[in-house]
Amino acid sequence: MTQDELKDAVAAAAIDEVRPCLERDSVLGIGTGSTANRFIDRLALLRDDFRGAVASSEASAERLRGHGIEVFELNSVGTVLFYIDGADEVNAHLHLIKGGGGALTREKIVAACAERFICIADASKRVERLGEFPLPVEVIPMARSYVARELVRLGADPVYREGVITDNGNQILDCYDFPIDDPLAMEARLNGIVGVVTNGLFAARGADVLLLGTDRGVERITP
Ligand code: A5P
Repeated sequence: MTQDELKDAVAAAAIDEVRPCLERDSVLGIGTGSTANRFIDRLALLRDDFRGAVASSEASAERLRGHGIEVFELNSVGTVLFYIDGADEVNAHLHLIKGGGGALTREKIVAACAERFICIADASKRVERLGEFPLPVEVIPMARSYVARELVRLGADPVYREGVITDNGNQILDCYDFPIDDPLAMEARLNGIVGVVTNGLFAARGADVLLLGTDRGVERITP
């Protein structure tokens, strides 16, 4: 199967996962990226079965609205039933690296609010150790050089993602050559650097379920 076919398969499996739990007042949290987009397109068929969605990016909000799905501000909803999103890497504990698309801060906020986080990914995203994919760190623009020096002290090779401004008006440093043995500890350490808005490690709040697209079918994995 191609990578696109695997993404389609996990998007369909995520629909099967959420559909039995939907109620008329349910609000879903929706992620960002090519896999999340496939989920959004399928969710359109269920739009009369739930209240609406909270989006982790302007791009996803626009796509949801395009399908006639109402998009809410997070502050105006109570509970988010599920958060459904892709990942750049996922390990056996369902700790993730996210933010390849630059939406990591809003993704982390919506994931934090969700009762359950369903990660949808093709098999290429599954790794033994996180860090082959460059870890994104969103920074307040004036702190960029300072944060970069701190990241070097931690062993990373940070590269400024030039020309990218996040939905929050910030900038991104991508940490290359940065294998991560203890994602929980590193997530907290990075959060402690002044000027860091968010880092792309999702370990304190990792996924609850991973739907992994493989040539043998979709595997449902829990930590
Ligand atoms: C967006 O900022 C990311 O966290 C995406 O969820 C991640 O990059 C996965 O994207 P794809 O589904 O396009 O691979």
